[in-house]
Amino acid sequence: MLDRYLDFTQSSFGKQVASALGLPTPPRLERAEVGYATMPLAGKKALVAADASATATGAVLAALQQLGATVQVVPGHAGFAAVKAAALNTAVELHSEGGETEVIAPVIVFDATGVAGTKGLKQVYELFQSRLRRLAPNTRVVVLARAAADANSVEAATAAIGLTGFVRSLAKEIGKNGSTANLLQVSKAGDAWLAGPLAFFTGPNSAYVTGQVLAVGDAPKGAVAPAHFNQSLAGKVAVVTGAARGIGAAIAQILAREGATVVGMDRPAEEGALGATMAPINGVGLALDVTAPDAGERLASELKTRFGGADIVVHNAGVTRDKMLRNMTPQLWDMVLDINLGAILNINERLMQSGLKPGARFVCISSIGGIGGNAGQTNYAATKAGVIGYAEAMAPILAKKGMAINAVAPGFIETQMTAMMPAVNREVGRRVNSLAQGGVPQDIAEAVTFFASPLANGVNGRTLRVCGQNWLGA
Ligand SMILES: NC(=O)c1ccc[n+]([C@@H]2O[C@H](COP(=O)([O-])OP(=O)(O)OC[C@H]3O[C@@H](n4cnc5c(N)ncnc54)[C@H](O)[C@@H]3O)[C@@H](O)[C@H]2O)c1
Repeated sequence: MLDRYLDFTQSSFGKQVASALGLPTPPRLERAEVGYATMPLAGKKALVAADASATATGAVLAALQQLGATVQVVPGHAGFAAVKAAALNTAVELHSEGGETEVIAPVIVFDATGVAGTKGLKQVYELFQSRLRRLAPNTRVVVLARAAADANSVEAATAAIGLTGFVRSLAKEIGKNGSTANLLQVSKAGDAWLAGPLAFFTGPNSAYVTGQVLAVGDAPKGAVAPAHFNQSLAGKVAVVTGAARGIGAAIAQILAREGATVVGMDRPAEEGALGATMAPINGVGLALDVTAPDAGERLASELKTRFGGADIVVHNAGVTRDKMLRNMTPQLWDMVLDINLGAILNINERLMQSGLKPGARFVCISSIGGIGGNAGQTNYAATKAGVIGYAEAMAPILAKKGMAINAVAPGFIETQMTAMMPAVNREVGRRVNSLAQGGVPQDIAEAVTFFASPLANGVNGRTLRVCGQNWLGA
């Protein structure tokens, strides 16, 4: 589905008309056109600041060094001594920020892991307030906090949560030029796994992710940190359900871009479209309904015989059958519950017996509708919220086996599913977010690929909204 208004306002004539009429002009988002580079931030500046008591700055600098960034600092800032001390330990070269007329570095990372009380929060204000007018389009802001549970005082716990409000509001303020702000809540054990999340949140791969909070902790047993970032899925086998079109097809393509061999599954009626999606990525099509009684069995045996098992399983197949609950038939209820949730549980249960390789990663597709709820979507929202609960409940079980599971909750994404919405709802869905536009299937695929890769080794049991900070369920 085309967003004609977005295209119009991105022409110079359209921009003038929109601005004369006081209408929103959605920014042009920079998305990844190729896979991750070996050092994704090579040739880029990253401005690093910290609060005076920050405890993750060494890990941040080491991660940015691994990503290839040129690190800039603000010598006059209250937390500068902490950054300098960390740089000495990690042997990272620091460069002073440019003058007051210069555009700010396109990546800003603020280590606020030591922030406590209102005085601590003031240091965040001081860094950002004077720089926001000079932000380049598509700037990436990442703030780090300690998880409130790890905080060693009431003041620290208060400020750690205070930062979530700060980042969510900052994201709403800077979205107008395509910039994003996200918060990583890092436990001490998560410091070692920061490079991957920083690669994702500072790059074009997270163009439609803003205003979000993601917890980073320890990795599952046996996980190995990636030595570099390109082709991180080389040699891996990934299953994607509902892969014939829409978001599932994009997931298959982006997983393949990072080196995975993809087994795409879809309903037998979609066999032709599935073949057309799989051919250019040298993938394997499997015409199989996820709700078929033998779906898990057939998938497991296909994986075992052809590849010896799967490394990645993406549960993307999903349908909507909207009706007010008072009018909903049991058939509509059952269909949505069976496809969107029941099939995930059944297939995973079978795959856990055999059909997986060591260190497997699961990614499930939820929806912001499951978080905020929608009138007419009791069936759909029950499944999409259920997916979030499932990922949370399975994470500790899988971690013990060296595996991990996460979920992605899309907002309004331009696909056949949203093309079928009534026009007014569609237009509202597109605009009521910080980036004033709908996402594209690639945005979801990038987040799924992040979770499927070693970049997300420190993330387990979490749900990441990819929604441009949609106000629904916020
Ligand atoms: N498009 C959005 O804005 C949006 C928002 C939130 C969540 N989602 C979720 O993203 C996922 C993909 O959505 P989409 O927009 O690409 O939808 P889509 O309708 O374009 O594609 C869904 C795919 O799943 C397949 N599928 C449906 N039932 C199946 C079954 N029983 N067995 C195997 N395959 C089956 C379909 O044939 C189709 O190829 C869904 O889980 C959906 O709920 C989408």
